[in-house]
Amino acid sequence: MKKELEQIRLGNIADTNHEIFALLKQRYSPRTFREEKIKKGQLNQLFEAARWSASSNNLQPWRFIYAEKGAEAFDKIVDCLSDFNKKWAPEAPLLMLAIYKETTDEGKENFHALHDLGLCLGSMSVQAQYLDIGLHHMAGVDWKKAEKEFNVPDGYHVSSAIAVGYYGGQLDKLPKKLQESEQADRQRIPQEDFAFKEVWES
Ligand SMILES: Cc1cc2nc3c(=O)[nH]c(=O)nc-3n(C[C@H](O)[C@H](O)[C@H](O)COP(=O)(O)O)c2cc1C
Repeated sequence: MKKELEQIRLGNIADTNHEIFALLKQRYSPRTFREEKIKKGQLNQLFEAARWSASSNNLQPWRFIYAEKGAEAFDKIVDCLSDFNKKWAPEAPLLMLAIYKETTDEGKENFHALHDLGLCLGSMSVQAQYLDIGLHHMAGVDWKKAEKEFNVPDGYHVSSAIAVGYYGGQLDKLPKKLQESEQADRQRIPQEDFAFKEVWES
């Protein structure tokens, strides 16, 4: 089984059209994880990578609530996940809620807050990859329920949940369909469809 997962990992290396940074090439969103706690120092490294990312007016609108498997708060996050995500994410050793502050210090809407949360998660992903940690983002979370359960203050919004764990684990713990999707080809639209020189091309 271990060998199988190693092969999946190799198979998931991005088949890029141009050479890119190795950590970006190797990153993917796993649905199996090693049964191993995230080391405390490494968790701090993940948040530190997030901390040093750029943000509009340096407002740093990102916030996180995280919990380790076994904690009551972990189960509370699981309870907020969609039925689909409940099939695999509870096996992760750590779950997070990714949250952003909606307003500036003057109380005006911070239009770029979600952008900046995403940007910091990009940095966190690269740092995670360096540590052999996979992040799997999840939009499938009942954010209203999560905000209530965790007493998220007004003006802050839960955007997603994230499963965090070391790459590896056991494929046969997943339902059959998910085992297949772990091994499916990764698809991307070509650059020409999103990067336009000088004029919008439809
Ligand atoms: C904001 C966001 C929300 C996502 N939501 C889910 C989700 O709820 N469940 C899930 O299994 N994967 C989810 N994903 C993972 C995507 O399906 C995945 O990133 C995409 O298929 C590309 O695969 P890759 O990350 O392995 O390259 C989400 C990813 C992002 C960035």
